[in-house]
Amino acid sequence: METVLIVDDEKNYPLILSAILEEEGFETFTANSGHKALEILENTDIDLVLTDMKMPSMDGIQLLERIKEKDQDLPVIMMTAHGTVDKAVEAMQKGAYSYILKPFDNDQLIVYVNKAVGMSRVVKENRQLRNDVKLQYSFGNIIGKSKVMQDIFETIRKVAPATTTVLIEGESGTGKELVAKSLHFNSLRRDKPFVAVNCSALAENLLESELFGHERGAFTGAVAMKKGRFELADGGTLFLDEIGELSQNLQVKLLRVLQEKVFERVGGIKQISVDIRIIAATNKRLKNEMLLGRFREDLYYRLNVVHIVLPILRERKEDLRLLVDHFISKYKDERKSDISIMGIDSEAERLFYDYAWPGNVRELENVIERAMVLCQGNKIKISDLPNEFKNNVYNSLHFEGIPADAKLDETLAMIEKKMIERALKLTENVQSQAAELLGIGKSGLNWKIKKFKLDIGSKT
Ligand SMILES: Nc1ncnc2c1ncn2[C@@H]1O[C@H](COP(=O)(O)OP(=O)(O)O)[C@@H](O)[C@H]1O
Ligand SMILES: [Mg+2]
Repeated sequence: METVLIVDDEKNYPLILSAILEEEGFETFTANSGHKALEILENTDIDLVLTDMKMPSMDGIQLLERIKEKDQDLPVIMMTAHGTVDKAVEAMQKGAYSYILKPFDNDQLIVYVNKAVGMSRVVKENRQLRNDVKLQYSFGNIIGKSKVMQDIFETIRKVAPATTTVLIEGESGTGKELVAKSLHFNSLRRDKPFVAVNCSALAENLLESELFGHERGAFTGAVAMKKGRFELADGGTLFLDEIGELSQNLQVKLLRVLQEKVFERVGGIKQISVDIRIIAATNKRLKNEMLLGRFREDLYYRLNVVHIVLPILRERKEDLRLLVDHFISKYKDERKSDISIMGIDSEAERLFYDYAWPGNVRELENVIERAMVLCQGNKIKISDLPNEFKNNVYNSLHFEGIPADAKLDETLAMIEKKMIERALKLTENVQSQAAELLGIGKSGLNWKIKKFKLDIGSKT
């Protein structure tokens, strides 16, 4: 049942109105002052407010303002007597749904009320829908409605609670660390540390002491004992980022920790045991690294208990819009400034769809953050985007650089060859993947590789 709150300082008027509206099937509440009305609104789900204009202490306009501060969408109808029509106009400007002149007849009132309540219901439903959509299209702060992302959410949901080792693969900026954190914070270890190590950031001997710690005097400069990340992560999660860069020597040591759960600090003999969950990430195809003999097979299978592959952004363009909105509101919240940006205009949006996003979600986030600083209006425009970005879209073929008398066949063949070379490079010569990237069949690709005499090693 829809609820109407009637506010009037007169005694009888609210009673009469209430009787009329109850007859029509509404549930009514009455208040004899603005303060009382606000109190009722605080505790009751009201669909419409019907308020008198002239009241002592808080008048109709003031009440309206207070209501709009709290709930933009709640409709308010002002009841005004002759002589206060100018006030009614002011109320409309301040967001009143409509006004009705006293005295009014019952039918007129009922029409107004029904209309306003109908609108209120639609607004509420939409709001609910928006919230549902938000829930459905995100997992914590990971956004995505594409099938691949939805499947990843499902995997996270399933494996987070366990202590299973997880291997996350994906290009830089696709959200590997975000997923790793989400696995940690949705596990029983969430109150214990999440410790990240970037395996590519340090030289081998430094990394070793960073991971396992060292005893005092283990090497020149080791003036005190230091705990490593394995120890610091005890009880929690250790995130090994860029695991593909781990040296052979450290691969052996890591394997031992995974198998026996013990290790020694550098320069030490005491065995230290830890309880940690390992999550590893890499921007390489670790299986290729293994096949090429650069990554230990036994370690690969130890890590690859659950495998999550994050898609590149241009393979899930249906998520672009959501991500853009997400980052806009993220930076709005962070700055708490009066940024009025609501979204991106259609021209800029088209550019976003055409762009290849080599830096994936991280790049998108940076582009939005930068544009929000530059943007003057309420929509991000092409002029707010970085130059390289625009040029990359428009001039990626450098069409102007092709001489006017260039022969079509030769020129197209040249472009074709370059695209194939790039696809092979990106996929490290895995032809099935390169063919998929180019949107052609595997045999077609194979034929073109021969035609252009491309060197692809021995892989298929
Ligand atoms: N699906 C996503 N939804 C929301 N933000 C994302 C998503 N994927 C990545 N990001 C954001 O992009 C940036 C890069 O993500 P990160 O996890 O560090 O990538 P990676 O570790 O793969 O390089 C971070 O700021 C992250 O919050
Ligand atoms: Mg990362």
